[in-house]
Amino acid sequence: MAEYTQQQLLDLVNSSQVNPGNDRVRQITQRIVSDLFRAIDDLDIKPDEFWAGVDWLARLGASGQLGLITAGLGFDRLIDIREEEADEAAGRAAGTPRAIEGPLYIAGAPLSDGEARLDEDPAAGTVLVMEGQVRDVDGNPVAGALVDVWHANELGRYSHFDPDQADYHLRRKIKTDAQGRYRFRSFIPPGYAIPPNSPTSELFMALGRHGNRPAHIHFLVAAEGQRTLTTQVNIPGDTFLDDDFAFATRDGLVVELQPNTPAAGYESLGVNAPFTRVCFDFVVQPALDADEARPQARMDRATA
Ligand code: DHB
Ligand code: FE
Repeated sequence: MAEYTQQQLLDLVNSSQVNPGNDRVRQITQRIVSDLFRAIDDLDIKPDEFWAGVDWLARLGASGQLGLITAGLGFDRLIDIREEEADEAAGRAAGTPRAIEGPLYIAGAPLSDGEARLDEDPAAGTVLVMEGQVRDVDGNPVAGALVDVWHANELGRYSHFDPDQADYHLRRKIKTDAQGRYRFRSFIPPGYAIPPNSPTSELFMALGRHGNRPAHIHFLVAAEGQRTLTTQVNIPGDTFLDDDFAFATRDGLVVELQPNTPAAGYESLGVNAPFTRVCFDFVVQPALDADEARPQARMDRATA
């Protein structure tokens, strides 16, 4: 039983009564709670508005869309910007530009040596073969690197999150050969839009923002002693290239399409007619510690 001012209440919320707790968790929570207390007061947030926000967060979590919101509100790109600022400040050589992982990666895609086919017959779009080399910042090929690739289907949806697709459809891991080369066959994916009639689209409509991403292909590139690179390439010509709701498109990541490439030499991928080729090399940075070289995605890391 006690009467509190706002500040007294905040001080109590931010104190540890039972044991010291975890310093970092306390530090971050205290800061965020303090900032929210201030926002509620400054903006005179009404009880109905507060509870509507809580309800929205609960629905967002229940629908598994929290990761969509972090990307759309710029947090994922912010983290990339900060990593690059840290590299620059430390004078570290840049690799291929990072681009956000996004919320739609899943670990455990089938692994193959050198090359893979991601899609199924019949091809659901323009046949694409993408190929290139993984190199370190000194230009040496990286043999045995893992190129983990994933993209949306012809409807802009990702397997695992879409019950209509087979497990690991359009998801593969490819191990680079002795020259550090990889190649895969798939089709040119379309763009992506956030799910309509969802907590995510509710917020974006209220903000007057669209939820579209230009056509893209995702990559995690991992190799021993190298920092795992998370990036995406973009298909040229997309209307949302410079207007990506997730802020993940970047200079240097828009590939060049080579249409009408003859099929000779690509038979092992089932290609027997002219196709669209994309050449793209990945440059990976040396890892600063063993953890940076773990070929694991964000969620695994966060809960490790
Ligand atoms: C989102 C979707 C993507 O396909 C992606 O690459 C990044 C973000 C999203 O819905 O937030
Ligand atoms: Fe994506």
